[in-house]
Amino acid sequence: MRRSIAAGNWKMNGLRENFNDILLIDAASENVNCDVILCVPDTLIREMSEKTKNIFSGGQNCHIEASGAFTGDISAEMIKDAGASHVIVGHSERRVNYNENNNLIKSKAQTALNEGLKAIICIGETLKERDTGITLDIIKKQLLDSLPQEITGETIIIAYEPVWAIGTGLTPTIEQITEVHDFIRAELENNYGKKIGHSVNILYGGSMNAKNAHEISAIENVDGGLVGGASLKAESFIPIINALNLN
Ligand code: 13P
Repeated sequence: MRRSIAAGNWKMNGLRENFNDILLIDAASENVNCDVILCVPDTLIREMSEKTKNIFSGGQNCHIEASGAFTGDISAEMIKDAGASHVIVGHSERRVNYNENNNLIKSKAQTALNEGLKAIICIGETLKERDTGITLDIIKKQLLDSLPQEITGETIIIAYEPVWAIGTGLTPTIEQITEVHDFIRAELENNYGKKIGHSVNILYGGSMNAKNAHEISAIENVDGGLVGGASLKAESFIPIINALNLN
């Protein structure tokens, strides 16, 4: 039985003065029937992991090496050392802005697993890819080429984030989300076996908010959400946690 996940991705947002939102989100996450994960900037991970009780702490990216001459980068080992349990890899903003390809993302995910972090691996098509009818081909390639060889539901989370839905206020229809999530589930089961494929959480991400969270997360193969903008404030993220808590 998969447990729902409400995950927030703060991206490059969040100063220590925003810490109260983290504390409010933590307080609201007590006794909920879903896991709450906040992926904050690296600068906040240590304090968050020390001062919260009910939420998981996550990073947003990691290098494939544990240490070395990589100015400005951070390793999975460092994120773990700061108190994180999760790390996002392969977000479309990194795929596009830093030319991260599936191969690199696979290595990052493997490094995260080696360090004992749970990897949240993001995949998703652009609008052009959707319009040309190749969404499922793109999803299949990103999925199978970005996933480490050995996965379990305990080590990996998939986030389906259509690039055109991120930060735009646009969301796919329920039918479109259902189609892609069912497809990802089938691919996981075909390639990793029914038991493992069934156990992996598949999150939806892209303009999720308090209004649409319940309907989207009620879809059979949607096991929660990866939320950007609406996760930044307690007042907008807590209603999403509550909506996921119902499913
Ligand atoms: P928005 O919720 O702001 O659309 O962002 C989604 C996202 O990119 C989460 O990783």
